[in-house]
Amino acid sequence: MSAKTKVAILISGRGSNMRTLIQAAKQEDYPAEIIGVFSNRADAAGLEFAQSENIQTAVISQKDFDSRESFCEALDAQLEAWGAELLAHAGYMRIHADGFAQKWTGKMLNIHPSLLPSFKGLHPQQQALDAGVKIAGATVHEVTPELDAGPPVLQAAVPVLDSDNAESLSARILKVEHQIYPLALKQFIEKRTNNDAETADQTNLIWPN
Ligand code: GRF
Repeated sequence: MSAKTKVAILISGRGSNMRTLIQAAKQEDYPAEIIGVFSNRADAAGLEFAQSENIQTAVISQKDFDSRESFCEALDAQLEAWGAELLAHAGYMRIHADGFAQKWTGKMLNIHPSLLPSFKGLHPQQQALDAGVKIAGATVHEVTPELDAGPPVLQAAVPVLDSDNAESLSARILKVEHQIYPLALKQFIEKRTNNDAETADQTNLIWPN
């Protein structure tokens, strides 16, 4: 197999999606190597797991910078120092400066707990409940300068039950997030690195069993 793509994961909190990527990348035939986990918050719970897996971590807080641009320059320097080729956002709660986003466009994925383009931004599960939709889900998409607007890579749908609240719906969606993110990252890398017919037409919607 060809060299693995070097992926940095960006988190701000719990890091359960980060865990699924780290676990997936342990498989010999998985095309990504997780080379670092970055957090903008020192108290992000996910950092501890990454360290326990012997993955290098870095924390830089925006509070130490006087502009979004200067913070993103420091972030970029860290990612370059790691040799990151792709960035996987996993609950990363900062909007990038335009210059940073433009530089990395085409090399960034994010996971969002809605069927984009519906319910962008904060609290998408509550937005879905407020809208009364009967199907919700998760989307792995490319990150572009416009928030939650990059092309979808893989989506998974879940039913919305009459009895749902934001917590129960979030939990159902999170389960499928954990299924699709490792798969989406794999497909994304395979499409970038070999344009053969085998990867040209892949499943891109998942419905839970
Ligand atoms: C997930 O629901 C993800 O879709 C959203 O933020 C949450 C992060 O959860 N962007 P975790 O930190 O991966 O557990």
